[in-house]
Amino acid sequence: MKKAKCIVDKDYIIGEVEPKLYGSFIEHLGRSVYSGIYEPSHPTADEHGFRQDVLELVRDLSVPIIRYPGGNFVSGYTWTDGIGPVEDRPKRLDYAWLSIESNKIGIDEFMDWCKKVGTEPMAAVNLGTGTPQDAGYMIEYCNHSSGTYWSDLRIKNGHKDPHNIKVWCLGNEMDGPWQTCGLSAEDYGKKAREAAKIMKWIDPSIELVACGSSSPWMATYPEWDRVVLEHTYEHIDYISLHRYYENEGSIENFLASFADMNDFIKTVAATADYVKAKVRSKKTMKLSFDEWNVWYIKKQIRFPWMEAPPILEDQYSLLDALVFGGMLCTLLNNCDRVRMACLAQLVNVIAPIFTEKGGRVLKQTIYYPFQQVSMYGRGTALKTLTSSETFETTLYGNVPFVQTAATYNENDGSITVFALQCDVQEDAEFSIDLRSFGNVKMVEHLIMDGPDLFAKNTFEAPETVIPRKVAVDEANDGNIFKTTLSKLSWNVYRFAKR
Ligand code: AHR
Repeated sequence: MKKAKCIVDKDYIIGEVEPKLYGSFIEHLGRSVYSGIYEPSHPTADEHGFRQDVLELVRDLSVPIIRYPGGNFVSGYTWTDGIGPVEDRPKRLDYAWLSIESNKIGIDEFMDWCKKVGTEPMAAVNLGTGTPQDAGYMIEYCNHSSGTYWSDLRIKNGHKDPHNIKVWCLGNEMDGPWQTCGLSAEDYGKKAREAAKIMKWIDPSIELVACGSSSPWMATYPEWDRVVLEHTYEHIDYISLHRYYENEGSIENFLASFADMNDFIKTVAATADYVKAKVRSKKTMKLSFDEWNVWYIKKQIRFPWMEAPPILEDQYSLLDALVFGGMLCTLLNNCDRVRMACLAQLVNVIAPIFTEKGGRVLKQTIYYPFQQVSMYGRGTALKTLTSSETFETTLYGNVPFVQTAATYNENDGSITVFALQCDVQEDAEFSIDLRSFGNVKMVEHLIMDGPDLFAKNTFEAPETVIPRKVAVDEANDGNIFKTTLSKLSWNVYRFAKR
């Protein structure tokens, strides 16, 4: 049996976990909005047409911030199409997803939904077909109290109080040739800076996110990030990172996604620090990992022009949930620098929550690790010193077969250790050394594992892949807890003061 050891010391602090690390994303894409969060004819719909079955599952994830309305969608979106009387709103062709946008939901309705969830929005402005002036008008509409054209229009549209949206994205993936009116780094950097100036003049309390590279596979990475940051450094608060993984045939490579994600974060942080020095800034740039997930269906069969086509509806397996857990560990282990992150996306489109139009709602396998880490991965993130053997990957070299992360809640003394076991062959002996914490006991060990790596949850069998509780052995040797990591498993260990 392989052995792995993890030491967690309460003085080895990475940083406070910013709740915004557990953000998510709703785009006008496929059935994310329409028949996802909004379906007036659904039996559970509330007075605003929002599905309460979906609302409940979103609330249970404790998602503090939700990016909206895109994504690629935003780069061709006219936000004014989505305000005012619904019957007067135009139907438009959406260039990003080649579908028809009805505009029944716009920023005002999305804000109403956010209130119901108990979350805040991260609004994106259009820097593709849109101008810095349009971005200024949008923030004036949303955040200015009253007495101007746009703020009074919001009041006329039924929202007396300003929305006070605090976090704004300056466009989306503007380095991508697929982006509507994508730009070079130079051109985007200048446009983003000018939009940022207007937006912060209107509301200096906001925070802005500039587009970093849309993935490390881009030929312009990380040069894009350097150039954009040089143009925008003092005007923005975050640079964005996006990364999706998929199983391309090698389980080892796929499992090691957490290691690649870590390298990506370190490179963007280093690039930002280089620019910090170059522009003689005192500010350290925060990172916003505002799109991350496992994603398979990238090229979609083209549907005829229609509203809310069922596109990018990935169904997730146990293996996907394991990889996903590893990525969550990487986010926690970099939470001093990654101050915001968005699971892309939330409902129907590459999402943990899946709905039937007019029918049921389902928790996909990835729902569970997200919920667990969002629930227990709060407080202070601690550095885990984990020693384990490594496994070989063709893409990322040798990678440790156990990936861990830990959090400590000083208020109640609770500790949580998360662990992904990547060994395909056998279980491993795993010891967790908590000697610096005084007298603690293990209160829970939750595992996701199973004989079929490709098992999925379905409407017929919704609980095929869910976490299971294992008996906890209270015995420990001076706060060193000996446990077993079953092969290919995602584990959550919870400890409390004795
Ligand atoms: O999340 C789906 C898409 O992925 C987003 O619209 C885009 O930003 C990214 O390429």
